[in-house]
Amino acid sequence: MNTAMHTPQHTLPTWGDAPTSRAPGWIYTDEALYQQELEKLFYKGHWCYVGLECEIPKAGDYKRTQIGERSVVMVRERGRPGQSDSINVMENRCAHRGVAFVRERTGNARSFVCPYHQWTYKLNGDLVGLPFRNGVVREDAEGHKTKEGGMAEDFALCDHGLNKLKVARRGGVVFASFDADVESFEDYLGPEVLPYFDRVFHKPLKLLGINRQRIPANWKLMQENIKDPYHPGLLHTWFVTFGLWRADQRSQMVMDAKGRHACMVSRRAEVAAPSGASAAVTQGVTSFKADMALGDPRLLDIAPEPWWNGPTVVMMTLFPSLIIQQQVNSLSTRQIQPCGPDAFDFVWTHFGFEDDTPEMEARRLRQANLFGPAGYVSADDGEVIEFVQDAFSANPQARTISELDGTGVQPTPHMVTETLIRGMYGYWRSVMGV
Ligand code: FES
Ligand SMILES: [Fe+2]
Repeated sequence: MNTAMHTPQHTLPTWGDAPTSRAPGWIYTDEALYQQELEKLFYKGHWCYVGLECEIPKAGDYKRTQIGERSVVMVRERGRPGQSDSINVMENRCAHRGVAFVRERTGNARSFVCPYHQWTYKLNGDLVGLPFRNGVVREDAEGHKTKEGGMAEDFALCDHGLNKLKVARRGGVVFASFDADVESFEDYLGPEVLPYFDRVFHKPLKLLGINRQRIPANWKLMQENIKDPYHPGLLHTWFVTFGLWRADQRSQMVMDAKGRHACMVSRRAEVAAPSGASAAVTQGVTSFKADMALGDPRLLDIAPEPWWNGPTVVMMTLFPSLIIQQQVNSLSTRQIQPCGPDAFDFVWTHFGFEDDTPEMEARRLRQANLFGPAGYVSADDGEVIEFVQDAFSANPQARTISELDGTGVQPTPHMVTETLIRGMYGYWRSVMGV
């Protein structure tokens, strides 16, 4: 049977002759396009973030999370004597009838047992047993035994394990892919971006806390927000006023050869506003509040760390699912879990290093108040991309303009540019065929 005949083909609107710097609103609202994004970006050909190894420190520790809309479990399995532990990632989908058998966000298990009919899996995803596999034995009045029911003789447990994902671990960070043929993680990041990844994840990590929020906007808008280096100096009153992010900072925009991943690398000016604010940078910037002062100045008790090696801020976007933040002493991963074209869950994992002093740990936690769902800075981003999504929903045909610093795609030695956004959509269009 030709199934294609029975599959309704949704015809997507076409991008047309407009340049990549003029994105139409429907790329953020179209349901069929969104389903294709899940297939082509989250389930194939890409690595997605799963978590930090320090979230599951002991054998049997697990964490439930998501890649795209699919539920997955990351679990630590003790290695054989003399071997290190393995970290396995499996789809949280029972091979029997599909139940997502792990319900807790985190826990510890010796095996995974599905609640519905108790199919039981090892921590590597192998099926080890299921009830009534051999049926039940009935004995009649004469003592004759007959077997009733059960699985077929040739039902092989080894053919019915969980869907095991390919796993990449680097510097204590775990990525996974449903695509067995995906390139190596190192090739995926590329030689431009990988050194910035290694710069942060250079010694054992310590988990400091997790925030979660649902943002009613398309997932790509979050990536865009971090690939837009000049909005912080305008939108975020906090950054402008206290000099954490200014348009004249020495900055560098880095991207991989495909334009999908990027690093905004910046060095904070030596003098902090408001006293040191240069008039040229704050002139006309209405979010600059000269009379705003901190109730507790310890929030800006910034301690340079040797591993920074220059930059005080590096914001990385790893397409499609991850943002890695270093804002002075505050470190976090931000995971994007799309849920429909017009919403995503955003999970912030704040971390430090195992060898941090108590003072440094307290400092990282204080600075984390800038970020997360209610962060002094990040609350603005969640709200503003919601406004953007509302506009696209109301008028999906209207287009955006991302043409600061031209229409080309190239690394730049300054932040007054939208080149990283153009880079991402050039790549996105090539994969999506839009
Ligand atoms: S659905 Fe999991 S055991 Fe039946
Ligand atoms: Fe922002």
